[in-house]
Amino acid sequence: MEDTEIHKGLAGVVVDTTAISKVVQETNSLTYRGYPVQELAANCSFEEVAYLIWNGELPTADQLKEFTERERADRQVDPKIVDLILGLPTDSHPMQVLRTAISYIGAVDPDGEAAGPEANQKKAERLFAQIPTLVAIDHRRRHGLDPIAPDPSLGFSANFFHMTFGEVPEKEVVRCFDVSMILYAEHSFNASTFTARVVTSTLSDLYSAVTAAVGALKGPLHGGANEAVMAALEEVGTADNVGAWLDDALAEKKKIMGFGHRVYKHGDSRVPTMRKAFEDMAAIKKADDLLALYNTFEEDFVSRKGIYPNLDYPSGPAYHLMGFDTQAFTPIFVMSRITGWTAHIMEQQASNALIRPLSAYDGAAQREVPAER
Ligand code: SDX
Repeated sequence: MEDTEIHKGLAGVVVDTTAISKVVQETNSLTYRGYPVQELAANCSFEEVAYLIWNGELPTADQLKEFTERERADRQVDPKIVDLILGLPTDSHPMQVLRTAISYIGAVDPDGEAAGPEANQKKAERLFAQIPTLVAIDHRRRHGLDPIAPDPSLGFSANFFHMTFGEVPEKEVVRCFDVSMILYAEHSFNASTFTARVVTSTLSDLYSAVTAAVGALKGPLHGGANEAVMAALEEVGTADNVGAWLDDALAEKKKIMGFGHRVYKHGDSRVPTMRKAFEDMAAIKKADDLLALYNTFEEDFVSRKGIYPNLDYPSGPAYHLMGFDTQAFTPIFVMSRITGWTAHIMEQQASNALIRPLSAYDGAAQREVPAER
């Protein structure tokens, strides 16, 4: 075993190809199907980017019209799913509620086991349309409020605000949310996407793969970090408290949520665009104190450790200013990443090999079972 090189966490290991996105460590760049994510965020709706991630090309006007009509028509969920969510404990984490509801959708979908690109694209689009409804229902029940039906006259992001809060905010706020959806959509073989590919590689179904991916994303080293960022900033409270808080946290060897990345070692390519969206939100909501805290915290930590923010650092406070509960931040991440996950599921199916790495044994030497025990 001594001469076996171990790649713990599969760090730096290339296990397959993908045509969906390219994450370039050296230039800190990210492209979806060849388009720089910053350009997509500046020029496209999330619906157009979802179509691109699945189909490899941006939609024509007719293709976008047909896609958005399907999405808007499929947003309502089965009343039994509403009852399922309303029946879960209100102190269960929203990611557990979402994981349970998605698994249920799979269990009652008559085509749940159907394989092939057409069947899976249909399932992918159904989850894309219905996950926001699930997240909004869960938000409202935690506030003692009844669900609000989806509004087919509204776009993806505006409808989510409508279902969650009963109103649509100014278009600048909706645009900030749409930008976050574009930035969160896809990121090659991150832990939750790779989880979905592992499940798919056994020829299991799309719903099983997505349910497993939700479980992986929940962890604070991955998607759960955006919630943890907001919790940390609230614990720090004010900009002049940052130094003391970081002294204590680093003395306890704590991981500072929203910073660092397995691939980007000189800054996450998505951060400048999401930081601008957060700054726009801070201007709209006149959140000068939170902006000062955000900047002071980042400057202090980066100067101490030379570890840069990832996408979760600006997105957490931006969602907070939009009015979402902190625990809803990772379910909101799922609303976007369902596009990347399902694109990878279909890519894995199209060129599959069972994912089964090796391990190097370092346990007890072989021995006999003693006769007398
Ligand atoms: C996402 O992979 C993706 O693409 C994910 C994602 C996506 O779009 O799908 O980008 C989304 O998950 C972003 C990451 C969100 N997670 C966090 O913000 C949690 C905090 N970050 C760290 O836990 C860490 O940076 C990781 C887990 C994200 C990456 O860690 P690595 O690559 O495994 O590196 P490491 O943990 O081995 O860190 C190397 C050194 C260590 O110091 P030593 O033990 O060698 O002395 O840097 C330190 C780490 O302790 N370090 C940190 C730190 N990140 C790294 N120290 C304090 N706080 C941090 N955030």
